[in-house]
Amino acid sequence: MTKSKFNQCFIVAIASGKGGVGKSIATVNTAEMLVRLGYKVAVVDADLGLSNCAALLNESVPATVMDIKKGRCDVEDVMLKTQGDFTLVTGADEPESDVLDWSELYTSLDQVLRKLRLENDFILIDTPAGASDLSFWALDRADMGVLVVVGEPTAISDVYRFCKFVLDVDPTYPFAAVVNFAEDENEAQNVLERFNTIVRHFMNREFSYLGYIPLDDLVRNSVTDQFPVVRAHPEHQVTKELEYIASALVGISKKNEKNPVTTSTEAEVSNQ
Ligand SMILES: Nc1ncnc2c1ncn2[C@@H]1O[C@H](COP(=O)(O)OP(=O)(O)OP(=O)(O)O)[C@@H](O)[C@H]1O
Ligand SMILES: [Mg+2]
Repeated sequence: MTKSKFNQCFIVAIASGKGGVGKSIATVNTAEMLVRLGYKVAVVDADLGLSNCAALLNESVPATVMDIKKGRCDVEDVMLKTQGDFTLVTGADEPESDVLDWSELYTSLDQVLRKLRLENDFILIDTPAGASDLSFWALDRADMGVLVVVGEPTAISDVYRFCKFVLDVDPTYPFAAVVNFAEDENEAQNVLERFNTIVRHFMNREFSYLGYIPLDDLVRNSVTDQFPVVRAHPEHQVTKELEYIASALVGISKKNEKNPVTTSTEAEVSNQ
């Protein structure tokens, strides 16, 4: 078994209210930055049927968690070592209408997570947009949720509705925010403050700022090129901001090692 740097693995679920806000881009680039900072990292693409982390990295998926669930392969077969030196696990790469026996799928996802936990310092779970069972599975298993927030009013109300779902069940759930599509840090802080004003008013909570991803054509082009921006442009401002986000996660994970936060148990979600 590979030795990991931490005693325990820190799991982060990357979530959002609406789609297309940059969750997958934030996930793969942060994973790659964490590797550069010296950590062992895995990404679970839990956006079943719409998985695109492998495409963002120009990697071919050997097998998916859905294949485990269907008895076509073992847990080891879904672990892909990417060129960025982190492990990628894809939930499913095509929509399958006969699938939705959730409890069996969660069993396979949990099997994968158990193995990844033993071998990694960080697991980042890329979740589907909005309030879905899979987003809640990911948040339940995670030590914290990272909300990707963007400045449009509709996006802010969507992310508010999403986290209200979670906070109504667990008012102390640990969330932090990454702001995407911001011109600069000032704009990113303003976007988060607009969001926090609502969350403070209605839920008496405030989300901490993890960092921001600049609105930049380099990011858009990295999708077309299937080459992560932090690898293509190691000295660029976008990469520096992603390094800041990765370092902030390291800081939180170290604090969490001393004071672990527990949410609900695995059994509760598997029984849904
Ligand atoms: N900082 C940025 N600057 C410019 N374009 C960006 C930026 N972030 C994301 N994009 C664009 O937004 C698109 C959506 O990003 P991404 O696929 O990461 O979103 P997502 O939240 O994972 O979407 P989905 O909900 O469909 O999974 C990208 O293909 C890219 O073109
Ligand atoms: Mg995505």
